[in-house]
Amino acid sequence: MSPFLLTRTLPEDATEAALRADVLRGLTGTPKTLPPKWFYDARGSDLFERITELPEYYPTRAEREILVDRSAEIREATRARTLVELGSGSSEKTRHLIAALTDLHTYVPVDVSESALTQAGHALIAERPGLHVHALIADFTAALALPTTPGPRLVAFLGGTIGNLPPVERAAFLASIRALLSPGDALLLGTDLVKDEAVLVRAYDDAAGVTAAFDKNVLTVVNRELGADFDPEAFDHVALWDADREWIEMRLRSRADQTVKVPALGLAVEFAAGEELRTEISAKFRKDGVSAELDAAGLELAHWWTDSEGRFALSLSTCR
Ligand code: SAH
Ligand code: AVI
Repeated sequence: MSPFLLTRTLPEDATEAALRADVLRGLTGTPKTLPPKWFYDARGSDLFERITELPEYYPTRAEREILVDRSAEIREATRARTLVELGSGSSEKTRHLIAALTDLHTYVPVDVSESALTQAGHALIAERPGLHVHALIADFTAALALPTTPGPRLVAFLGGTIGNLPPVERAAFLASIRALLSPGDALLLGTDLVKDEAVLVRAYDDAAGVTAAFDKNVLTVVNRELGADFDPEAFDHVALWDADREWIEMRLRSRADQTVKVPALGLAVEFAAGEELRTEISAKFRKDGVSAELDAAGLELAHWWTDSEGRFALSLSTCR
């Protein structure tokens, strides 16, 4: 069996420094914000997996349907020997793609969640003996140093996670992905599509409260890592559709006037009753917008596939 390699591209103290900088900036800004990448400690990654199984959360099922239907076409179009997946999480849907990519030599999952990478990596090498798995603990918004592996290279960014980046960061991110590609390489991008507001809001505010627990998990992470004293029960989870910007916003609304201490930063943060802390945006897309954003990054849309209900799209693009 091929070995499972796990590389931490940044020292652990760099992750802590990044968290401190993000929390300082986010909790002293107006409005208050925290970036979504800090949801994903081991508990947050498990909660996300539970979200993917909720009846209200359709994106995972819709994208899996496309992958099951289109993976053979993706193999024909790419002949990929290396698959790099950004924000790979459990790699659960990716299994369908990996099974179809018969020429595949190496899979490079990239994630900030070490627990997700380890579990997924071991499961995959057991399932596909001979496949090299070189996992990277890395922030995909920072410069990525990929291992030297055989081409062609297919970079996958699934789940609609691109929608969690604000538009300006999205443009820089796509340009950085383009820089990783050589002629003959491709990008496989999952994008959730604009749809009825009620369907969208339900997907981000489920009846069982799993998304609320996921949202509040960022407070638990800040408590553990920076010694803060957030009481997650003193906040309500809120999901709103912004029709102008075509994105869902997740927020945590303070139930009362309260002061939260963050000793590692020497901060005392005042929350007024009803004040909201933004924790995530999840942008929804249209084909023209995706095509234009890819084009601006030097990529050309070659295939656009949707699920049978037209809820989610997977696109394949190549270097221009
Ligand atoms: N691709 C999977 C998981 C999506 S959840 C799916 O489609 O189901 C988003 C994943 O991205 C999580 O595993 C999270 O840990 C990871 N992630 C979020 N922000 C990240 C960042 N800046 N760099 C690397 N990984 C990140
Ligand atoms: C990872 N990302 C695509 C998810 C989304 O739908 O924006 C994260 C999530 N947030 C709440 N539910 C799921």
